[in-house]
Amino acid sequence: MASMTLTINGKIHSVNVQQGTPLLWVLRDSLGLTGTKFGCGEGYCGCCTVIIDGDAVKSCGASVESAVGKKITTIEGLSRDRDHPVQRAWIEEEVPQCGYCQSGQILTAAALIARNPHPSDSDIDAAMDGVLCRCGTYHRIRRAIHHAADLKAGAK
Ligand code: FES
Ligand code: FES
Repeated sequence: MASMTLTINGKIHSVNVQQGTPLLWVLRDSLGLTGTKFGCGEGYCGCCTVIIDGDAVKSCGASVESAVGKKITTIEGLSRDRDHPVQRAWIEEEVPQCGYCQSGQILTAAALIARNPHPSDSDIDAAMDGVLCRCGTYHRIRRAIHHAADLKAGAK
């Protein structure tokens, strides 16, 4: 076991875990941040996605030690009052169906519009490609990302 310090949602957390433990296990099992979901555990579905230093990262494939010293954002910390433009757009466009994939979708979309304020449809498709939705909410996701970009720009 090794003691490690993680910065998650602006707070410092100390954890005592084995080297190589997936960040996903630490978030969910050690820290109770269960908004980050377990799907495949093998890097295919994307429902475990978090933001690390601005990049959307599948936390099942990231070792806990790889996240030390970096800024980690989970769905619990994306905003204080669910007022991030992506969250507002998600609500207004009524994106979720069962909801299971949605924290990964929202965080991937948030990372996208942070680096690309006006993504095209093809930018959106490329960025969101690794996050699967069994309920097929892809059209609403694309619409909500355009809406979020507008909200962020203050256009609507
Ligand atoms: S649980 Fe991480 S990609 Fe599926
Ligand atoms: S909303 Fe059900 S899996 Fe995406």
